Amino acid sequence: MMIEADPEKLGRVFNNLVANAFKYGNGASYIRVDARQRADQVEVTVANDGTPIPAQSLDHLFERFYRAEASRSRATGGTGLGLAIVKSIVDLHHGTVTVTSDENETAFVVTLPLKQAEK
Ligand SMILES: Nc1ncnc2c1ncn2[C@@H]1O[C@H](COP(=O)(O)OP(=O)(O)OP(=O)(O)O)[C@@H](O)[C@H]1O
Ligand SMILES: [Mg+2]
Repeated sequence: MMIEADPEKLGRVFNNLVANAFKYGNGASYIRVDARQRADQVEVTVANDGTPIPAQSLDHLFERFYRAEASRSRATGGTGLGLAIVKSIVDLHHGTVTVTSDENETAFVVTLPLKQAEK
């Protein structure tokens, strides 16, 4: 699967998502990274198990400086900017980023358009 992208910027995207999974995946036993093709998009998932993110936080995660309740009190030291930067970089690449979280898994899904010649 080929995409056209700024490698340094995309590095920041996945660095933040994997670092978040390590920092906030409370009681997690795995971090799963996979990529698959879906129509003319590449879909990359970074997921972990463990304590789910409360439903009321999910809508705010991509806002600047937002940190979910459980993280604010803990000494993880984040600024709450990582996911806002993730979203702006993904937007720049004409992609999307979404999050789902339930008892089984918290999953961040990034979709990016396949390189034109690969479609
Ligand atoms: N995998 C995850 N599991 C549980 N909560 C998460 C996960 N990823 C992100 N979060 C929540 O989303 C919040 C925002 O994440 P974001 O990356 O924007 O900021 P941060 O990690 O707190 O700080 P920064 O990335 O700027 O160092 C986190 O503070 C945390 O509450
Ligand atoms: Mg972060």
